[in-house]
Amino acid sequence: MASPNKPVRWGVLGAGRIAEGVLPRIADASGCVVTAVASRDLAKARAMAQRTGRIGDPSAAACAYDDLLTRDDVDAVYVTLPNHLHFAWCQRLLRSGKHVLCEKPMVATRREAEALRDVASSRGVAIVEGFMWMHHPQTLRLEELAQAGDASPIGRLLKIRSHRNVRTTDAYILATRLSHAMQGGALMDIGCYPISAAMLLAGAAPDWSTLRARADLAPPLPGETRAVDDTIEFAWTFNNGVEFEGEASFSRGTGVFLELVGTRGVARTTFPYSPDPVRQPLVVAGSEELIEHGGERFTNQFTHFAAALRAQQQSSHGSAAVRPGMDLSIRIADAIERIHQHVGIVWDHASARRA
Ligand SMILES: NC(=O)c1ccc[n+]([C@@H]2O[C@H](COP(=O)([O-])OP(=O)(O)OC[C@H]3O[C@@H](n4cnc5c(N)ncnc54)[C@H](OP(=O)(O)O)[C@@H]3O)[C@@H](O)[C@H]2O)c1
Repeated sequence: MASPNKPVRWGVLGAGRIAEGVLPRIADASGCVVTAVASRDLAKARAMAQRTGRIGDPSAAACAYDDLLTRDDVDAVYVTLPNHLHFAWCQRLLRSGKHVLCEKPMVATRREAEALRDVASSRGVAIVEGFMWMHHPQTLRLEELAQAGDASPIGRLLKIRSHRNVRTTDAYILATRLSHAMQGGALMDIGCYPISAAMLLAGAAPDWSTLRARADLAPPLPGETRAVDDTIEFAWTFNNGVEFEGEASFSRGTGVFLELVGTRGVARTTFPYSPDPVRQPLVVAGSEELIEHGGERFTNQFTHFAAALRAQQQSSHGSAAVRPGMDLSIRIADAIERIHQHVGIVWDHASARRA
């Protein structure tokens, strides 16, 4: 474990696209250093460590996946594997006493999310889901607007709408995103963002008796027999009456937004999940608010995690106050599982648990 005044030493698990993009952002984050990069291919890990130019000794940093479980220069691991490997690797890392930041979506079922919460708590380590958009001040402003009731400029919250449609033809991306074996699909890859927004902002638990969902499935990948969703629509009402409507698609025209509809007006952003670090406009009841210098969301996320771990160590009791907490991640996993069940997508849990 890191001592209170020393930086959190990060290992990165998997040397794919998101790892490549985010590794420099970890190095930028306050209270963080990267000491290890794990890949099935050592040369690939070494090359990635080298390319960032931010790791002291790229050769020493490069390692195999299993090495992360025992390296004593690694306090926390950033899990960037395909979705079907998240649960098993998070569980192994937590059991080894490592803190974990797992890429979204952490898992596809409530049972797995609860199991990870329990193992983290029993080992006294922290786990957090990589919803980096929650670490930008625009999100904090949306929370205020949603939760201020009649005092909010939009009035009392009535409805949340969010679409994340990202038209994708990139064969490299689709090889994992359309794979049933790898727990792909539009809901897992991009629909988890609108779900996370609804769970963060609604202010109540869902009334699952109101769930509606429909999906267009992509053809199964060569070598696979089962299909995942190319496009998915989902909606439900929360117990406080707030309605939610979400959509995610790999083939509908690119379109992303988050809208809060209140009794007196609407708050709307077209960059809810990738807000600008310098200048992010947000339209609130017809007027534009400018959120300036909100910071880079991934850097903010790692800075926040390191600060939460430091605060936990200094208080020497309780769990780290990470964002999102596992209570939120459990509700997100629950929603994902229920929507999948509703549209007839089921996973093979035996393979989902294999590391
Ligand atoms: N927060 C965000 O904005 C964001 C953006 C994109 C993706 N993500 C999430 O990050 C995760 C990874 O996405 P990615 O786009 O980085 O994927 P990717 O480029 O395919 O990278 C995943 C890495 O996992 C490792 N891996 C282990 N077993 C594998 C297998 N059977 N097939 C393929 N790769 C395997 C590989 O690393 P080695 O070869 O080095 O072992 C691979 O490079 C997903 O959960 C995704 O949802 C998040």
